[in-house]
Amino acid sequence: MSNTIPKRDHFSSKFGVIAAVAGSAVGLGNIWRFPYVAGENGGGAFLLIYLAFIALIGVSVMLSEFVIGRSAQRNALGSFKKLAPGTPWFLVGSMGIVAAFVILSFYSTVAGWTMEYVVSSLLNRFQEKDPSQVNQMFEQFIAHSWRPVFWQILFMFLTGWIVWAGVKKGIERYTKLLMPLLLFIIIILGIRSVTLPGAMEGLHFLFYPDFSQLTGNSILQALGQAFFSLSVGMGALITYGSYIRKSENLGTSAFQISFADAIIAILAGVAIFPAVFAFGIEPGSGPGLVFVTLPNIFGQMPGGYFFGILFFILLTVAALTSSISVLEVVVAYMSEELNLSRHKATLLATGAITLLGLLCTISWGMGKEWTLMEMTVFDMMDSLSANILLPLGGLLIVIFTGWTLKSQVVKQEISNNGALKAPLFQIYYFIVKFIAPLAIAIVFLDNIGLLNV
Ligand code: PFF
Repeated sequence: MSNTIPKRDHFSSKFGVIAAVAGSAVGLGNIWRFPYVAGENGGGAFLLIYLAFIALIGVSVMLSEFVIGRSAQRNALGSFKKLAPGTPWFLVGSMGIVAAFVILSFYSTVAGWTMEYVVSSLLNRFQEKDPSQVNQMFEQFIAHSWRPVFWQILFMFLTGWIVWAGVKKGIERYTKLLMPLLLFIIIILGIRSVTLPGAMEGLHFLFYPDFSQLTGNSILQALGQAFFSLSVGMGALITYGSYIRKSENLGTSAFQISFADAIIAILAGVAIFPAVFAFGIEPGSGPGLVFVTLPNIFGQMPGGYFFGILFFILLTVAALTSSISVLEVVVAYMSEELNLSRHKATLLATGAITLLGLLCTISWGMGKEWTLMEMTVFDMMDSLSANILLPLGGLLIVIFTGWTLKSQVVKQEISNNGALKAPLFQIYYFIVKFIAPLAIAIVFLDNIGLLNV
């Protein structure tokens, strides 16, 4: 082997791959973002379109990212340089790195809120509070001068520390045990939520598709949420793909992970919306939705004190296993392309993202007034990533896989050089070449008013 190719770390087992990628996919996107965006976009019809986007496009973008990363054995930007040298395709990788900064800046704000809720649950601060008091506590907290900032910095520190520890040891260790436990608590929460008086209205809201509620913008938001939730469109899974061993089955992994991710979002919806209606909370109340809903459910269930603490701890862990995959995009890029040591790269990236993140955090308090088109810094980062950068990145990734990479290369990667049958390859390839690019392009064009559909 030539000594210019650094030896890459690889996930050590089948479970390692699934655990790490699922750890990236399952996070605040499922439990915090999905309910709040679905709530703002009318519920049932949004859910249906979101699921259709996952099944039809999301899985294929995920598989394409795996193919790109594992065949190139490089970071998000380096992969494009290696597979299409001398072309502008590397810009897709650069966009992914920008997206990593943008996403982690507001993601760490919300992860910080989650950590505060661990402590608030421990101290039983929500006890005997009615929904409006819980709401008030949330609003006071997010606008507080230093508490949310403190938690955000701590969260970024933890993220940086895990990435510093390296791919295999850092990532696999944390994901394997805790996610099934989180799933278990979400199910218990769902059971409590649907048995609250008035809960049926919430189930109706979530599952009854009322298409009159949908606008072109909701469709773009459903696409963006699908991508955000699956961690696709910015090269996180190109980077992780490059750590997947050559013997793993990429297609099955993409399918199973996407399926699990969608189920967890639905279960989160089942836990949240019945309670939202039972407690008279406004479903479209925005990013605070789960933080004002959940403490009320815990307050109304046996063992709620312990479940509450455990839930917010596990949600913090779920956020961490996602945030490390975002930071890894930047660190892998800096260390492989800019020749920084991994440690230096981790320090630099973590520091820079934390600074940007502080703007998002304080945009709920003293920075409330810094708005552009009625959006605060937090709203801008949230919407820029999910509604623009990820769909655009996803579009370019499928075009690259379908039209620039040779079909034999793609087929070889998916079939592990012919060792696997890959029976659905033709369908996947058709989606990547035609359906996904067209669908994403139509959603975009419709949104900027260029189409009248
Ligand atoms: N998929 C993560 C979640 O649902 O919380 C968020 C995320 C991680 C988005 C990694 C993008 C990414 F590259």
